[in-house]
Amino acid sequence: MNQQAEPFLKDATELADFTQVHVSRPHESAHLHVSGRATYTDDIPELAGTLHAALGLSPKAHAKIVSMKFDKVRATPGVVAVFTADDIPGHNDCAPIVKGDDPILADGVVQYVGQPMFIVVATSHDAARLGARRAEFEFEELPAVLTAQQARAANQSVIPPMKLARGDAASKLARAAHREAGEMLLGGQEQFYLEGQISYAVPKDDDGMHVWCSTQHPSEMQHLVSHMLGVHSHNVLVECRRMGGGFGGKESQSGLFACCAALAAWKLLCPVKLRPDRDDDMMVTGKRHDFHYTYDVGYDDEGVIEGVSVDMTSRCGFSADLSGPVMTRAVCHFDNAYYLSDVAIDGFCGKTNTQSNTAFRGFGGPQGAFAIEYIIDDVARSLGKDSLDVRRRNLYGKTGRNQTPYGQIVEDNVIHELIDELEATSDYRKRRAEVLEFNRNNEVLKKGLALTPVKFGIAFNVTHFNQAGALVHIYTDGSVLVNHGGTEMGQGLNTKVAQVVAHELGVSFNRVRVTATDTSKVANTSATAASTGSDLNGKAAQDAARQLRERLAAFAADKFGAGEVTASQVRFAGDCVLVGDAIVPFEEVIAKAYVARVQLWSDGFYATPKLYWDQAKLQGRPFFYYSYGAAVSEVVIDTLTGEMRVLRADALHDVGASLNPAIDVGQVEGGFIQGMGWLTTEELWWNAGGKLMTHAPSTYKIPTVNDTPPDFRVRLFKNRNAEDSIHRSKATGEPPLLLPFSVFFAIRDAVAAVGDYKVNPPLNAPATGEEILKAIGAVRVARLDRH
Ligand code: MTE
Ligand code: MOS
Repeated sequence: MNQQAEPFLKDATELADFTQVHVSRPHESAHLHVSGRATYTDDIPELAGTLHAALGLSPKAHAKIVSMKFDKVRATPGVVAVFTADDIPGHNDCAPIVKGDDPILADGVVQYVGQPMFIVVATSHDAARLGARRAEFEFEELPAVLTAQQARAANQSVIPPMKLARGDAASKLARAAHREAGEMLLGGQEQFYLEGQISYAVPKDDDGMHVWCSTQHPSEMQHLVSHMLGVHSHNVLVECRRMGGGFGGKESQSGLFACCAALAAWKLLCPVKLRPDRDDDMMVTGKRHDFHYTYDVGYDDEGVIEGVSVDMTSRCGFSADLSGPVMTRAVCHFDNAYYLSDVAIDGFCGKTNTQSNTAFRGFGGPQGAFAIEYIIDDVARSLGKDSLDVRRRNLYGKTGRNQTPYGQIVEDNVIHELIDELEATSDYRKRRAEVLEFNRNNEVLKKGLALTPVKFGIAFNVTHFNQAGALVHIYTDGSVLVNHGGTEMGQGLNTKVAQVVAHELGVSFNRVRVTATDTSKVANTSATAASTGSDLNGKAAQDAARQLRERLAAFAADKFGAGEVTASQVRFAGDCVLVGDAIVPFEEVIAKAYVARVQLWSDGFYATPKLYWDQAKLQGRPFFYYSYGAAVSEVVIDTLTGEMRVLRADALHDVGASLNPAIDVGQVEGGFIQGMGWLTTEELWWNAGGKLMTHAPSTYKIPTVNDTPPDFRVRLFKNRNAEDSIHRSKATGEPPLLLPFSVFFAIRDAVAAVGDYKVNPPLNAPATGEEILKAIGAVRVARLDRH
């Protein structure tokens, strides 16, 4: 309890109004975030004797290691030890899925520039970093494959290709009135969490290991460290109070850092911290997969798609990591909000000599949906129609035209009314006319406008990940402590879980404290990912709190009800327990329940219902429900310089019955800006030798406050989840990242104005200034050719 409890209920009439959910509340750590007192892993007071580690990285994209010499490393003042793959007592592997695929330290061969080859441990962080640069190697270079297309040409993949088809796309294409084929590129994205990767490992009694790790997946870290050390899971405890952002980058890839810190701590029997600096972090870790697409679409005079085929190739990097599930999600989101009767989707996971790409907000969903939006944008322009009209004609129906290519029925469709509302509130039609007028009167500056929808499936595709556990303690003073398997990365999960527990027990928010995620408290947890954090852990915590409430109700009815009140009539609200006419303070009930030997703690569990999935056939019901949204963006470009500004953005997003509207609006705003950065300014660039050259904020340009649309209107769509989710809310974490597709297609619209909307601009993402200029040039050339 960090503040005074709120006042007690005055009379029973207040009971009806009591709620802790569907209300805006600041993030539970907001007061700590803004005052610099929130403890991140690097802020934990260091134990005496703590040593610091740094990683030695490969300078080659693909090579056999002939020799490694560490004499100069060891001679560096402060250096205590050097460890290589040979020092690992158990498995040299931190692969999340395809076992044996991800060496922790390179063994015999290096597979990308930046791959960790050895660990230097020293008395200071700087000494370890200095030492790490002094190793001497001899290599025998091997041919390197760098891009997705090169991998495709070489038929080199990290997992077998995927195919999802329905109907007969080929014959529909052949018979369609209109047909359009094309290709485009969509860039990757660095997670750019503000707090970098970090692990602090402390050896414990009897082969124990305690690792504080900035991770979205403590249980996975526990398993990886135990396999690496060759000990059981029960020897290893992984803890994370909070992350300074994860965005998918700490779902699997925190493993390498946890394993390296734990290895050094195990060998030296002293605490070791590994905190790579930003450049090393970006050189070592994987990012969002960039995609290359080719497509072929057949459609009628109104723009209704009759047949479509798409071929997607992702750049996975040197290992599988999470590339398989990322491609599955891309394949299952190619439809986005549209009914595609005859469709063929191919997914190829290209193996390249680059960082192993991984989860990033949306997890392949954005890459899948981007392709159909691009195709519909083409179709509309080729027919000379407004793209919104063509989008509308292709939307999933409410009844009929509502089965996805993977077999799930879209039962909770609200996209029609959501778009209706946004079209009206954003003044879409009027502004379309104004944009056309502006473009007629301006040669150098061109404006563009676009409205794009989002439909995003919620749940892990892998059914068994959809489970969660929680532990709720009530102490004898009436304070409540909650532990659950989810992790806090700034998204407000702990705030939402505390609200759910406070609501269930009828107590004030400040009475509930959520503790660090800890593998010794809740076991076998899933990653906090796929936006399912509050859905899963909220339900598990509710289950625990409900059991406590029922136990307390039975006790209170007996103790205070004078034989006239049943347990089911007892109410919990306003920090009080209402038993008939009696209003008893919560802590009095707790104190008496303790004396009466009532168990005041409980576990809770949840498994998402209705899910099944056949990964071989890519069929089933992988998602519990869908989240919807749409956004309208207006941009202006300078056709001489390629400079672009977003002038206004309106977003309307469906989060069901929001648990906490303030936090959800924050997620929508953050997701929008992050997605906008991905599609406009964030460019990853590798040189011919395979070295990532954009490995720091000096060259890798994330959006700043200046890039925020000066007119930015974010609203939540009024809705309730049709499924029995936690208080009928919906997940909010990832889907808003797709809203800024509207920014990209507004840019494409502005570029098309250069050619009188007669040419589909070959614009790739990110639409940097350079890319915009290139597309303008191509449009001009195409116009000349046609005259
Ligand atoms: N918001 C913040 N502030 N920081 C983050 O790292 N990660 C995103 C999203 N929102 C993230 C965030 C990603 S990738 C996911 S999957 C979800 O939050 C995870 O949390 P949730 O399931 O509790 O929504
Ligand atoms: Mo989010 S990409 O599922 O961690």
